[in-house]
Amino acid sequence: MTATVSSTGIDSVLNETRTFPPRRAAELGMPRWHIASPEEYHALHRRSIEDPEGFWGGIAQELHWFKPWKKVLAWNPPDAKWFDGAKTNLCYNCVDRQVIQGHGDDVAILWEGEPMPGGEPEVRRLTYKYLQQQTARLANALKSLGVKKGDVVTVYMGMVPELAIAMLACARIGAAHSIIFGGFSAQAIVDRVQDAKSNVIITADGAWRRGSIVPLKANVDAACADLQKANAPVDHVIVLRRCGNEVAWHPERDKWLGDLLADAPDHCPCEHMDAEDMLFLLYTSGSTGKPKGVLHTTGGYMVYTYLTSKYVFNLIPDCGQVLWCTADIGWVTGHSYIVYGILPNRVTSFMYEGAPNQPDPARFWDIIERHKITQFYTAPTAIRAFMKWGDQHVAKHDLSSLQVLGSVGEPINPEAWMWYHRMIGREKCPIVDTWWQTETGGQMITPLPGVTATKPGSCTLPFFGVDAAILDEQGNEQPHNTGGLLAIRKPWPSMLRGIYGDRQRYIDTYWSTFKVKGNKPANCPSPYYLAGDSSRRDADGYFWIMGRVDDVINVAGHRLGTMEVESALVAHDAVVEAAVVGMPHEIKGTGIAAFVTLAPTHQPTDEKASDKLKESLRAHVSQEIGAIAKPDMIRFTDALPKTRSGKIMRRLLRSIAAGDTSVTQDTTTLEDLSVLAKLQENDES
Ligand code: WT7
Repeated sequence: MTATVSSTGIDSVLNETRTFPPRRAAELGMPRWHIASPEEYHALHRRSIEDPEGFWGGIAQELHWFKPWKKVLAWNPPDAKWFDGAKTNLCYNCVDRQVIQGHGDDVAILWEGEPMPGGEPEVRRLTYKYLQQQTARLANALKSLGVKKGDVVTVYMGMVPELAIAMLACARIGAAHSIIFGGFSAQAIVDRVQDAKSNVIITADGAWRRGSIVPLKANVDAACADLQKANAPVDHVIVLRRCGNEVAWHPERDKWLGDLLADAPDHCPCEHMDAEDMLFLLYTSGSTGKPKGVLHTTGGYMVYTYLTSKYVFNLIPDCGQVLWCTADIGWVTGHSYIVYGILPNRVTSFMYEGAPNQPDPARFWDIIERHKITQFYTAPTAIRAFMKWGDQHVAKHDLSSLQVLGSVGEPINPEAWMWYHRMIGREKCPIVDTWWQTETGGQMITPLPGVTATKPGSCTLPFFGVDAAILDEQGNEQPHNTGGLLAIRKPWPSMLRGIYGDRQRYIDTYWSTFKVKGNKPANCPSPYYLAGDSSRRDADGYFWIMGRVDDVINVAGHRLGTMEVESALVAHDAVVEAAVVGMPHEIKGTGIAAFVTLAPTHQPTDEKASDKLKESLRAHVSQEIGAIAKPDMIRFTDALPKTRSGKIMRRLLRSIAAGDTSVTQDTTTLEDLSVLAKLQENDES
């Protein structure tokens, strides 16, 4: 499978013709599919687009509101208000509502820890009643530290139940959370805490990962020291005891989570939140060096993640369903499909702490068999790793509990799709390849199981309420099978409401590209949302995502801005200039290639010195951003190819990084052709 972006526009050369019709629900041990036929899907989709207020107003009745809305949607591009005037609480809908309706003893979160060599796996079952009690206690503890509605609480933890409890406790009292992925570095904490003006951090002593301990508390300590210097002190650090590793202690600032919970009363009413009150910030990469705080609000996000969870995974309470989304809660996938969308559907959400190959590459399949997982949602990068580790690890486990398989994070290559279908799905389970983004809050283009015939590599059709289209820059729809920009032409309930503290960046990034005639909103240049992906649509209306169009690379399903990695490299003493591009990578899909020019004082004298310097640059990037940002290939060069106006020609670098030595692309604007010749000569990594 290949997809290329040419100099004239976006060309697609993918040609995949296999189609897999949906199976009957009974074959998979399910009472029914929520949406029964393609006709029903198309009719409902049409209604959701023509009458979004009627459609979403109806769905919202399935959840609890303290006060009803005045209007379902007010759209003043680029600002949407959903369910304005209504009051609700997402923690209430995830937890309290289930307890009140008599399901307090049902298991809400089923958790397994990582350590195991030799021993039994550590398993915890958290009921809705227990979640209610714990979120109330933590909510009271946060209040006692002065946290109020509207404050931002930073959370930096591993995949432990307390992470879910922390986010729900914030939602309970109306504080927004900003969760930072536990794999990020101290520097990433500094940037995010400062941008969010947050002064409380919830963390843990450490997190288990592949048999070793990630020193979370030590990273927080380092970040707090920097924040202190930057005059943005953190007042409270709440620490979960998880790994028992030694930690430094600052008595005036640090508190053990266990002590706080023991002292807190276990009753705390849920704050009545406006539908448009902030629910959380989640930082994601953009094309400049600074990560952006994507802002989500309460009511629309709740309704949309609830409905996508229900239909895309076909969730039905009281049928023994256990959904496992393998993402970390530090990414939006975990926010929406481990916690917020799943719990209101009253099925069990399974959460695993550690690595897929600890103690051996069969861990996931062992988990699926032991916990009888029914919905399994993972990323193509993981699937490619499983393929490589070998079928024997899968074959020795009974995966017959599985009903629906999901994929998210990047385009899934048809070979990986077929392997997933054959080895994990026993050629029975529907595969839902779900396209969406941190910004969209929930799944946007996706098959519905039991309804949508699937084609390997296509995320198929838009979800209800989603008006997705392939456009040129004038906003004209492209003909079938012609590549273009993926746009969403109507607001949807879980859309981002802004970038925290940066109105202009919100408008420039998402609402400025399409020069639509005669339809210009007052507040921004374009009425359509730009996703930043290129895509095509086939004759059946199916979407095929081709990749990012901006300076963002998608490594192992996680977005990284090339600028962020470049900034980290340039911060190293030896580096003068750096250009970072994506390159094909067998497991990660896209790897990171860095082209680096060195200071004259740091030129390596031989190959050994060169390797050593590359290693030190990798370690440096890892320290600045996190291990996921480490370049897979570093190439030293005397100069970078630039246009006459000084813009680095990334397109060219991408071809070189992909091993293409006969660059045939348009180089008429290249400032100095000898640079190109040199880069191609110097073909080692
Ligand atoms: C970008 C968003 C949404 C949760 C995980 C990533 C790519 C995501 C798919 C898919 C093709 C996909 C896009 C998108 N992407 N899912 N099913 N098929 N591409 O969230 O970090 O906000 O990244 O991931 O390029 O723009 P994110």
